[in-house]
Amino acid sequence: MTADSEKDIKYLKAIGRVVALALKKMMKDAKPGMTTAELDHIGKEFLEKEGAKSAPQAMYKFPGATCISISPVIAHGIPTDRILREGELINIDVSAEMDGYFADTGGSMVVSKRVPELEKLLEATRSALAKAVHIAIAGQPLNIIGKTIQQEANQNGFNVIYDLTGHGIGHKLHEEPSEVFNYYKSKDRRILAEGLVLAIEPFLTAGKGHVVEQKDGWSLQTIDKTIAAQFEHTIIVTKNEPIILTLIKDID
Ligand code: CO
Ligand code: CO
Repeated sequence: MTADSEKDIKYLKAIGRVVALALKKMMKDAKPGMTTAELDHIGKEFLEKEGAKSAPQAMYKFPGATCISISPVIAHGIPTDRILREGELINIDVSAEMDGYFADTGGSMVVSKRVPELEKLLEATRSALAKAVHIAIAGQPLNIIGKTIQQEANQNGFNVIYDLTGHGIGHKLHEEPSEVFNYYKSKDRRILAEGLVLAIEPFLTAGKGHVVEQKDGWSLQTIDKTIAAQFEHTIIVTKNEPIILTLIKDID
C-alpha cells in the first residue's frame, strides 16, 4: 500500500511496534529446553494482549502464530514439540494485523551461546538489512535494495537466497510490489514511490542460495543444508530516511 495519510502512518506505526515487541520478547525468551510451540505461545499471547492477530494464521491458515525455523530451515518453520538446544541457529518471524493494517518483522539468533562462525553470518545479514533500509529512498530504483543486499552478502563471503524475497505490505501481508529481490535484477525497472510500505528481508547463506520445501508443506530448508539467516523490517519509503516501523528505539 501507499501510506498517504496521517491515519495510515499512525496505524502502521502501532502494528509495527506490536510485532517488533513480540519478536524482541520471543528472542529474549528463547532458551534451551523450551519447545518451539512454547515459544510460539509466548508470541501469540503477546499479540493477543495487544489486540493484534497473527497474519500467517489469519491469511494462510499457517499452523502457528509465528514462524520458528531451526537451521537449516530458514523460513516458515512450524512451531512443534521440538526442543531448542544451546548453540542452535534459529529464525523467528512475526507478522500481524491490527485495525486493518499489517507489519512484518523477523530475526535470526543463536540459542544461549556465542558461536563465532554463526555470529559472522548474523552480523552480515543485520548489516545488509541496515544498508538496504537506508538506501530505500523515494525516486530510487527498487532494484537498488537487492543490489545493496547482494553486495553486502558477497563482501562478507556469503550468498543471498535467491528464492526468498521482500514484499509490499500494508492492508495485506503480501501485496504489490510482490517481489523485492535480494539480488540485483537489471531488468527490474520499478521505482520506489513516496509512501510505499515495504517489508525488506535479506536472507544470507553460506551455501548456494536456494531453498526446498519440506514434507510438512511449509518449512523451507536450504537446498545444501547450509546455515542461513534473515532479518526483516517493515518501512515506509519517504524522500529522505525511511520510517522504520518495526524498529524499537525506546526500550532494550
Ligand atoms: Co516476515
Ligand atoms: Co516478510
